[in-house]
Amino acid sequence: MKIIVLNGSPRPNGNTKAMISAFKEGAESAGHIVTVFDICKMNIKGCLACEYCHTKAFRECVQKDDMQKIYPVMDEAEMIVLASPVYYHGLSGQLQCAINRIYALGYPKKLKKAMLILSSGDTGVYDGAIFTYRNSFLDFLHLEDMGIYTAAGDENKSEDLLKRLKEAGASLSDPDDHNAARLVIRSGDVTVKAKMNDSFAARDFMNRMPLTVKGIDSGVDYCCEMKSGLLDEAEMQDGWKNGDINLSDGWFAILYGGEEQSAQYHQMIIAHLDDEDNKRIMSLPKEAEFLLSLEEPFRGGNNA
Ligand SMILES: Cc1cc2nc3c(=O)[nH]c(=O)nc-3n(C[C@H](O)[C@H](O)[C@H](O)COP(=O)(O)O)c2cc1C
Repeated sequence: MKIIVLNGSPRPNGNTKAMISAFKEGAESAGHIVTVFDICKMNIKGCLACEYCHTKAFRECVQKDDMQKIYPVMDEAEMIVLASPVYYHGLSGQLQCAINRIYALGYPKKLKKAMLILSSGDTGVYDGAIFTYRNSFLDFLHLEDMGIYTAAGDENKSEDLLKRLKEAGASLSDPDDHNAARLVIRSGDVTVKAKMNDSFAARDFMNRMPLTVKGIDSGVDYCCEMKSGLLDEAEMQDGWKNGDINLSDGWFAILYGGEEQSAQYHQMIIAHLDDEDNKRIMSLPKEAEFLLSLEEPFRGGNNA
């Protein structure tokens, strides 16, 4: 898989860089493609909060600085590694600026996994950086945790530490279907799970859970009124497959049938039900209430 590493240390031969190099060596030995950005050598300004990216443009930042080199790589990457020295109990300022600028993309298109690498002088100084990582990357971006690696004082550059980082890189596997987030749909006694896809709309939708919606069976689908959310027109499609879940034009729809006559409809598919679960939906009454929630992929252990 493609891995993007954001290095927040300004020291070219520093402790953070040593951890990144060990990780990179391991990951590349397993066939992964690793791109490291040394953020402190780049011209990356702080977010202006001008909202250009979400109003006048779509996923484009108004500031044409070195962040423009990072955006396309971040959109292609399936894993992100945040690596930083601990400064005043948080990430380095330069790295935090780059993180804030991810705002323009909303949800990087293919990201599924994340890792945090921290170097510090003292022990027990990681809560601030870990809070950012857990809340902004694991929870908000719905990424799978591939571990938190820390080194304090003499642990930095130690043989044991660098061996662990190398092994962490070498043991990574490509994201697979088993890791896809599931949309849990409950109505009365019926519970089904739809596999969410990688679309921008699906990522945005995940952050709106849990929700309750009401729908009426039209003969081919349960149509429920719901705000559309963020859509990338390029990801919309004509037609659907039976079992698809649609979110567009103010509708959340469970499209259990009607695939043959669907070509004329242009919509955003965010998830899909397998045949068995699709049949369960068809057993529901004409009017049904759906409780929608999210089942997250398994999150790995904490190596801190
Ligand atoms: C501005 C600054 C703030 C720092 N704040 C902390 C801190 O709050 N806690 C800590 O344990 N170490 C702190 N340190 C020490 C660094 O985290 C530590 O030396 C780290 O290993 C440097 O990583 P590097 O070699 O990759 O730059 C700070 C260092 C600097 C320069």
